[in-house]
Amino acid sequence: MTGNNGPFVEVISAEALASRARELGKQLTEEYRDREPVFVGVLHGSLPFLSDLIRQVETPLDVDFLALSRFGEGGKVRIAMDTEISLEGRHVVIVEDIVDTGLTLSYLRRLLETRDVASLATVTLLDKAPRRIVEVPLEYRGFEVGDEFLLGYGLDWEGQYRNLRSIWVVLDLASLQSDSASLGEKVFRAHGDNLTT
Ligand code: PRP
Repeated sequence: MTGNNGPFVEVISAEALASRARELGKQLTEEYRDREPVFVGVLHGSLPFLSDLIRQVETPLDVDFLALSRFGEGGKVRIAMDTEISLEGRHVVIVEDIVDTGLTLSYLRRLLETRDVASLATVTLLDKAPRRIVEVPLEYRGFEVGDEFLLGYGLDWEGQYRNLRSIWVVLDLASLQSDSASLGEKVFRAHGDNLTT
């Protein structure tokens, strides 16, 4: 832990996120050199990580996005917005912010495997392994995290806080739910106090 501000605690600093993105970028550069991969960001949470990660990969690549919507029981997903680029014959790297139960990624991988991709791998910033319901391959991951409610760097609460530059755990979710405005102010103040750059 890198800081404590009441109901919010910074658990992964901006420096640690940047450093891990550099390490993963190096690995991905080695693995995908001369393969012209397509990095596919799963909206919306992957956006900050995708943006930082691709700038650490030193080989040509394409970037595209897809969005998912959930339906029915058991976390079934369908593609709400598809990639513009055809994935057929391409080396596809799915970029996620977090894998939790694994249901989303498991469905997504199965969907993409039907598209005759040359290869399929996933890089997730966070692996919330204690919550896993289905086993799903994770070729690259940034950090393993516990079963806590996290915010920032793409992770949201009701669509907000994705713009925090580091990752925070919410110790008092009930307060956030009942008094989101004042707690919102608090987390941005704490966030500002913690920033070194
Ligand atoms: C998050 C995350 C994964 C999914 C993981 O997306 O980006 O796609 O949940 O959960 P699972 O492993 O339990 O299936 P979310 O639905 O929160 O959308 P967002 O990225 O737009 O915030």
